[in-house]
Amino acid sequence: MPERQAKPKVLVLHGPNLNMLGRREPSYYGTATLDEINADIRHHAERFDITVDCFQSNYEGALVEKIHEAVDTCNGVIINPAAFTHTSVAIRDALLLLDCPIIEVHLSNIYKREAFRHVSTIADIATARVAGFGKRGYLIALEALQKMIT
Ligand code: DQA
Repeated sequence: MPERQAKPKVLVLHGPNLNMLGRREPSYYGTATLDEINADIRHHAERFDITVDCFQSNYEGALVEKIHEAVDTCNGVIINPAAFTHTSVAIRDALLLLDCPIIEVHLSNIYKREAFRHVSTIADIATARVAGFGKRGYLIALEALQKMIT
């Protein structure tokens, strides 16, 4: 665990278009907004005695820089790279800097969808993946991480 920190810290990263949750293809992504999902994550993190930092960006570079910050500060990362899942070598390379568990989360079951969504640039470097459980996936990931890092 990084020094100077009483509680383990988890970075939760949301990729492009996830700021539009609630209005975006609800049949795939549900009706909860990102603020509501983050509130749920924070609530559960409190119960687990974990500090969470939730961050969303539509920009690949911003996500990369947030991962860089996590290198010396975080004990675990939960990431839904959204569309960047299928394209981003930059996010993969950034995640390779981390020496902590990484959980890949997708709201939808990407394997029940178009073939291009079946490919993930981070699948083989993530510790585990949760997909198809909707917003619950983040809480499943957090609970699993808690067991790994505390
Ligand atoms: C997603 C699946 C991706 O294919 C898509 O581009 C997203 C969301 C999911 O959570 O199911 O934006 O990562």
